[in-house]
Amino acid sequence: MMENKNILNGEYDLSAILVIFGGTGDLTHRKLMPAIYNMLLDGLLPEHFRVVSIGRRDKSEDEYRNEVRASIDKFSRNKVDEDKWAKLRELILYYKFDFRDHDGYPALKEYLDKLDDRAGTGGNLVYYLAVAPEYFETIVQGLQKGNMAKAKGLYSRLVIEKPFGKDLITARQLNKKLLEAFEEKDIYRIDHYLGKEMIQNIMVLRFSNPIFEAIWNNKLIDNIQISLNEKLGVGTRGDYYEQAGAIRDMVQNHIMQILSLVAMEPPVNLKTDSIRTEKLKVVEAIEEITPEFLRDNIVFGQYGRGIIDGIEVPGYVEEGRVPKDSRTETFVAMKLHINNFRWAGTPFYIRTGKRLGNYGAEIVIQFKDLPNILYFKDSNIQEPNLLVIRIQPNVGVFFQFNTKDFSTHHDIVPTKMDTSYANPSQGNTPEAYERLIYDILRGDSTLFSRWDEVEATWTFADKIIRYREQSNVKFPNYEAGSMGPMEAIKLLENDNRKWWNI
Ligand code: BG6
Repeated sequence: MMENKNILNGEYDLSAILVIFGGTGDLTHRKLMPAIYNMLLDGLLPEHFRVVSIGRRDKSEDEYRNEVRASIDKFSRNKVDEDKWAKLRELILYYKFDFRDHDGYPALKEYLDKLDDRAGTGGNLVYYLAVAPEYFETIVQGLQKGNMAKAKGLYSRLVIEKPFGKDLITARQLNKKLLEAFEEKDIYRIDHYLGKEMIQNIMVLRFSNPIFEAIWNNKLIDNIQISLNEKLGVGTRGDYYEQAGAIRDMVQNHIMQILSLVAMEPPVNLKTDSIRTEKLKVVEAIEEITPEFLRDNIVFGQYGRGIIDGIEVPGYVEEGRVPKDSRTETFVAMKLHINNFRWAGTPFYIRTGKRLGNYGAEIVIQFKDLPNILYFKDSNIQEPNLLVIRIQPNVGVFFQFNTKDFSTHHDIVPTKMDTSYANPSQGNTPEAYERLIYDILRGDSTLFSRWDEVEATWTFADKIIRYREQSNVKFPNYEAGSMGPMEAIKLLENDNRKWWNI
């Protein structure tokens, strides 16, 4: 919920210039521009709005706009309407500039000031850093030196994509630099998972349904599983992934955000900081992570060759820009506990991996069994109550409970209620960005990570990364198209449980 509303005459004032550093890059073309186009279609763009795309190459405005049009044609969820495009086209401007050149920022400021006067954007600025992370500091310093970080109108906001550093130390260094120029409230750290529909729905499901909230605890829940499984490999991102691995790429951010939302206490209200504070407490309550603990509770994997959907795919070390002797993990499975009154004793199992046999992101909540007294439990037929929050590709809720089987008159069978629908566009798509860009303009940072959350999740992830660097697991240890290393399955079997692939 908004705390720093941009109120003008009683209405939200979304007027702004969105300055995109990296205007010719992949993120801008695939996600940001299609998102902005769809925001226009949905009537979410303010009347006074401009996009200034910054790129190094020499290009006319027309050329740039034509390239954007081609990307929107390709990646937008809606077909391009000529009238709407004609409108958007006028709002998009190209500015040639090498952002590493700090002497060039005053000229950029002058350009933006003049544009602001013409377009009536109220001096409000959003700087979106759609560039490789090694440039974050350079750009922020340039903005600071050019006196562009201070709000001229209602605000100057900074948007950055992950990775925020590569460990706690580098994240702190980066954050220090950002804070020298911008205030924490004006920094929007994107975790695109928070833009997904079902992730936003977790709080609504939990806190607007007494039937769920009443049973959301260790007395009734046996275990919770969070799986973010991908069929895709690393593709062309080998050099990035070599620096990251699954822990930095998926666990430190997306999985920790989901874990926090699933396990948090009800916030005192829906204000951004009340929610973020409760989320942070979850990460702080995770049991102590020691090397001894990790030895028994974590499994790392790296994919070898295999077959996915009938197609033979290469192993990780055969991918482009990956060294043949790479020790980078493409899979992690882990068991952990949250040591607070609500969750002590109920394990959380998390897993994520590339090149797995099925694609899907879901949260499975498995409830405890009743005592085996009245309806004797036949484990071949009966199954536990399960509540599944399906994030993608299916979106919605699945619930499983037991009923009498009418055909045999005596058996008890699981009944499956599924409200979910297939939505292929729930991936890392422009749709999540529509919501996120809209929130940035509105000044609502609920769906972005606050610094202390980032710090806490790095503290957690660093211990795992350090342990992984010392471990001598033999890679590759799972075939592409499988469900990861056997040890990941054993991790749950040792507890008499199994991964649910619903
Ligand atoms: C990104 C990771 O953050 O999330 C990618 O860097 C991963 O490696 C992607 O593939 C998954 O996102 P989504 O939305 O497609 O599940």
